[in-house]
Amino acid sequence: MKIRILLLSLICAAVTLPGASAAEGKAKSADKEETELGGHMDKMSGAFRKLKRQIADATKNEDSLKLVATIKAESAASTKLTPAWKPEQKEKYQAKMKDFNAKVAKLEMALKAGKNDEAAKIADELGAAQKEGHKEFKKPDEKKK
Ligand code: HEM
Repeated sequence: MKIRILLLSLICAAVTLPGASAAEGKAKSADKEETELGGHMDKMSGAFRKLKRQIADATKNEDSLKLVATIKAESAASTKLTPAWKPEQKEKYQAKMKDFNAKVAKLEMALKAGKNDEAAKIADELGAAQKEGHKEFKKPDEKKK
């Protein structure tokens, strides 16, 4: 009898749990709109985080150049889009994103020349441009993530 109750509760858990997590997933995506630009930003973000950690290390330049290629491609695609929160500032946004992309090209050249110190400085500038760009064109998060 005990075993039957145990089995029954296990079955109940198996049936209800996936449903609960699916509902949670839905709530999350409804909370935060996904945009084409956001998708490019997410890809850029992963590559930039890793790049910052290893940019000073010349032994990792081959991998760093792959990360830079991702950031370059994603920022190039981002120059053609419109920020969801400030669509009226499309031109200003696109000009800033073009500047950003040009800086990424400079960083690439520095790395190719083995100038890691210079590359690290440009990465700092990119971080500052990110902060500025988000302040100007990205909707502030209601709850800090
Ligand atoms: C290394 C540089 C950057 C990184 C790593 C980065 C990363 C991100 C991330 C993670 C998001 C959230 C994406 C999502 O909602 O899923 C985002 C959104 C956004 N970022 Fe960036 N960003 C960078 C530079 C910039 C710059 C330079 C600008 C503006 C000139 C900019 C403008 C925006 C805008 C407008 C959004 C909101 C998305 C939308 O409007 O659809 N970002 N960024």
